[in-house]
Formats: sequence, structure tokens, C-alpha cells
Amino acid sequence: MKFKHLIYLSIAISFLSCSYNSEDDLTEEIIIEDFVTYNNNIKTIIDSNCIGCHSNPPVNGAPMSLTTYNDVKNAVENGDLIERISTTDASSLMPFGGPRLPQNLIDLVIQWEQEGLLEN
Ligand code: HEC
Repeated sequence: MKFKHLIYLSIAISFLSCSYNSEDDLTEEIIIEDFVTYNNNIKTIIDSNCIGCHSNPPVNGAPMSLTTYNDVKNAVENGDLIERISTTDASSLMPFGGPRLPQNLIDLVIQWEQEGLLEN
């Protein structure tokens, strides 16, 4: 929705400001919405919240490391990473012992999966 508004806005501006009414000015206003990727979005979330235990080698009883793209991708595809960060059940919640991640970060991980677990 925001994206559409931007286009309308830039079209409106281009009509109003006659002196800058070129195609170049119009395209500069358009912001491309990026896909969620491991390197841009997910690595920071995992590094800040998970690798205290899911390091390599893992510590504090964590069963696997989450230090690389393949580790995290594998835990989403073949494990229950998304379920573990989404749950409100304290006994299975990750990060272990809580608190639950902010919802916008959980949503980013869910979106990352929906968009195909891109690395870059
Ligand atoms: C304080 C240490 C600690 C932190 C921080 C932590 N974990 Fe864990 N994690 C564990 C322990 C211990 C287990 C094993 C016990 C269990 O399954 O509940 C585990 C298990 C898991 C499992 C299940 C693995 C399996 O196959 O059984 C997943 C998935 C997981 N963690 C993901 C995460 C994610 C994602 C984060 C960060 C958002 C995170 N963990 C943060 C300690 C931690």
C-alpha cells in the first residue's frame, strides 16, 4: 500500500513541478521493497539472541549451532525453529528461558521462510 502511495505521490509531484518533469525524476522516487535475506535481516537476529548457546560448538545444552546460513536454514526446514520462537509456551520457547523475541523480528523470520530462505 505504501508503495502505491509513493507512486501516486511521485506522479503528482512530477505534474506539479513542471521544470523537473522528466522520466528520471519519476523513477528515482520509486523504492523497491527488498526480500528478507539471511545476510540483511536474519543473521543479526540470531547473532543477538541465539548464539550465546547455539554457538559452534553449542553450549549450555543447546543441541546444534546456529552460526551459519546453512545451520539456520536447516533448523527452519528440518527443525522447528519458527515454532520455537513463535510459541507462547515458556517450556519450549526460544530464546531458552525467554523473553520472547519482539513480534516484528518473529514476523521477519516467518517472512524469510515464505520468501524462500534467501541467503543474499
Ligand atoms: C540460554 C541458551 C539458549 C538460547 C539463548 C537459545 N537457545 Fe535454543 N536451545 C537451547 C537448549 C538448552 C535447547 C535444548 C532444549 C530444548 O529443546 O528445549 C535448545 C533447543 C533449540 C531448538 C530445538 C532443536 C532441536 O532440534 O531439538 C531450536 C530450534 C532452538 N533452540 C532455536 C533457538 C533460537 C532460534 C534461538 C534464538 C532466538 C535460541 N534457540 C536461543 C538453549 C538456548
